[in-house]
Amino acid sequence: VEHAPYIYECVTCHRQFDPRDRILTCTDCGLVKGTLDVLYQDLEEPDRQRKSDWILPYQIGHWRYRRVLPIPADIEVPDLHVGNTPLFKAARLEKRYGCKDILIKDDTRNPSASLKDRASSVAVCHAKWLGYTHIGAASTGNAGISLAFWAAATEIQAHIFVPQRVSESALTMLGIFGATIYRIRGNYDQAFEQFARAVDRFGWYSRNTATNPVLGEGKKTVALEIAEAMTDAPPDAVIVPVGDGCILGGLWKGFCDARKMGLIPQVPRLYGVQSSGADPLVKAFDNGSNVVEPISPQTLADSIAVGNPRDAVKALRAVRLSHGGLIAVRDDAILEAMRELARLVPVFVEPASAAPLAGLIALTERGVIRKSETVVLVMTGSGTKDLASARSAASVLPLDIGTSPQDLDVIEAQLSSERRQT
Ligand SMILES: Cc1ncc(COP(=O)(O)O)c(C=O)c1O
Ligand SMILES: [Zn+2]
Repeated sequence: VEHAPYIYECVTCHRQFDPRDRILTCTDCGLVKGTLDVLYQDLEEPDRQRKSDWILPYQIGHWRYRRVLPIPADIEVPDLHVGNTPLFKAARLEKRYGCKDILIKDDTRNPSASLKDRASSVAVCHAKWLGYTHIGAASTGNAGISLAFWAAATEIQAHIFVPQRVSESALTMLGIFGATIYRIRGNYDQAFEQFARAVDRFGWYSRNTATNPVLGEGKKTVALEIAEAMTDAPPDAVIVPVGDGCILGGLWKGFCDARKMGLIPQVPRLYGVQSSGADPLVKAFDNGSNVVEPISPQTLADSIAVGNPRDAVKALRAVRLSHGGLIAVRDDAILEAMRELARLVPVFVEPASAAPLAGLIALTERGVIRKSETVVLVMTGSGTKDLASARSAASVLPLDIGTSPQDLDVIEAQLSSERRQT
């Protein structure tokens, strides 16, 4: 058996573990405090700063970074596109908000339409390496759907635990990819607990945010791509939505690795955005504390409706060490941002993914981000899976018209009233 090219290290006590022991969190520090970092031995050597040592040519999507992913070289990865998503300037947003440089990293353009594909694609390969044939998760949306997709790609059986209240589109997508779906008579937290018991009892591989260190490694490739594309002029700030905090933690890890690979001189300031109805990490950040008080979440942005964030330590470390921050925005600002993104970019995102734009507006108003700075907004998930929210953001109703020629008079009246208004 080939030696693992990396080790695990506890974020709190720094104890190290061998990944082949199928361990998920530090045995001393427990679930939230004992999340693990993945450290690649070669990357820790300071003289290994040559981009070409680390990035493979001719690989599809984010697999070009597989030398800094926790998958040994002899494990096959699926020949399917993931990552390598568009990064582009949003000129009309810049004009609208008086900002010099706003870039969009469009991760809605992943195979299951969210950034979660980066994590799931790595998780299924990691599970295969460790010899698992079953993999599971508790999820209401993107994470479960993307796991179902990647399990289908690698012929692993996916087991997805969903709460009683789950959307038709989620059930449909889970079903079409062949996942086994367990609907728990309870809420998401109860589905999560049942799933944890099932993992213990049936010995499945767990794709649970934060508790599995490999997921953040998958998510970090979004930062590697930004760093590689912007080597000559790195961004000043990068903004992401925050629920459990795993994407934010992954972003920090990716930019740190990018610095060690010689792609960028320093990590950009990282900012996380929560909804004001689900902002426990913002409160901990404002209090300068590492202790997060769980709350009962209240927001229409489902993907960031998290009351008890499980990757708190890594998320808070990311914003503190990068000199960034965490900010809360109201749901109406999120819906407004969703409309602006759809009309001025355009890109169709779910509410959670609109939060970075709402966050940017608030941060420039406070002078935390200057309008002359270069900022990347990460669009983490498509709007297509949550049409109900999109409908409330769109706020345009159809004009009903009959089938006779005179019925077009209604349009005439509408057009002339618009002309009078302008
Ligand atoms: C589209 C989207 N954005 C943001 C998030 C928040 O990510 P995290 O829980 O890692 O903070 C999620 C997580 O479900 C998501 O699906
Ligand atoms: Zn520990």
